[in-house]
Amino acid sequence: MKTLFGGIYNGKTVLVTGHTGFKGSWLSYWLQKLGANVIGYSLNIPTNPSHIELLDMNIISIEGDIRDQHKLNSVFESYKPDIVFHLAAQPLVRYSYINPVETYEVNVIGTLKVFEACRQSESVRAIVNITSDKAYENKEWVWGYREIDPMGGYDPYSASKGCAELVTSSYRRSYFNIEKYDKDHHVLLASCRAGNVIGGGDWGKDRLIPDIMIAASSEKKVSLRNPDAIRPWQHVLEPLSGYLHLGWKLLEGERRFAQGWNFGPSDDAVRVQEVVESARFYWSKIEYEIDGEGHPHEAKMLKLDCSKAHTQLRWRDVWDLQTTIEKVTKWYQAFYENAYVNTYHDLCAYIEAAKMKKIFWAVNV
Ligand SMILES: NC(=O)c1ccc[n+]([C@@H]2O[C@H](COP(=O)([O-])OP(=O)(O)OC[C@H]3O[C@@H](n4cnc5c(N)ncnc54)[C@H](O)[C@@H]3O)[C@@H](O)[C@H]2O)c1
Repeated sequence: MKTLFGGIYNGKTVLVTGHTGFKGSWLSYWLQKLGANVIGYSLNIPTNPSHIELLDMNIISIEGDIRDQHKLNSVFESYKPDIVFHLAAQPLVRYSYINPVETYEVNVIGTLKVFEACRQSESVRAIVNITSDKAYENKEWVWGYREIDPMGGYDPYSASKGCAELVTSSYRRSYFNIEKYDKDHHVLLASCRAGNVIGGGDWGKDRLIPDIMIAASSEKKVSLRNPDAIRPWQHVLEPLSGYLHLGWKLLEGERRFAQGWNFGPSDDAVRVQEVVESARFYWSKIEYEIDGEGHPHEAKMLKLDCSKAHTQLRWRDVWDLQTTIEKVTKWYQAFYENAYVNTYHDLCAYIEAAKMKKIFWAVNV
């Protein structure tokens, strides 16, 4: 596995913020298999069960707040990371309505402080900042958003991610300008906007897949709040392969990749209810009811245009939606019925499928 992504991660020191969360745990796990020395920096473990606790990992895990500049700086000084994947965030829309100040503080000021730690560090060469597809000003139209579309956001979470993109753009021009790369500084900064990510090991609150699987595990019906919401669903490994691909190119000093990127599925975005129906095919304990009244506003229609990642980065998604839903459902079924954690198995299957499809990061070894 160490030869994937040109073998760039083998022996590198990689700092992952938000490593105790859903995406961060999968990313840290994959990075470790790629031979990286992973330093995780997060608040305490956010869920119980917790994916990171279920994985057998040998990484350095630091408990800290990204708003704590002093602590961040000391971690950068001690471990001297080559690259930073910034995933720590308050990522929940409904929670953001109740806690807007905390959401902006963590997602905007926290991001700013991570960038400041990078700016003061001698070692960092690349930053991959994770925002969201919700960072785009949502027009409720049928087309996918492109990287040139304006940032925005109705709810506090979406707007905070739009703000985090503006901070990224400002830092890229002010401090990590590609024209001055290798002269005044040595950092390339990119940001990633991915769609709705699903996978085993997510126990985040008010998220569709955890809600479905927790209900099924106790033979209850899940309530669907937005059955008609249309989202670009993808397996968690899809955007992670995009982040790793981008990190690889930034570490190689390819300044043209220091920009914003969309990573989404090639399959059409589909309705929430269709996802649940498909999951039921793989685990018959899944049952649902519609509870569509009285919920705060969430975007109805959200799609991404990923032409830029396909053509310029040569990144492609690997699994279609059916395969994704099958893998995700079986992950939870194996966990709840047999106490088995399928993460390694899913990772290997994903890499094999990427090799079969001759995806650039998998075959360019
Ligand atoms: N899951 C999705 O569908 C999705 C979609 C688009 C974008 N994203 C983005 O991807 C990133 C990761 O999301 P996730 O789904 O893994 O979320 P998660 O809630 O599972 O994990 C969030 C992580 O951030 C950490 N964290 C939160 N506040 C912190 C703080 N103040 N200081 C330090 N650490 C803090 C948590 O401890 C946890 O490790 C986030 O930036 C999120 O906005 C997620």
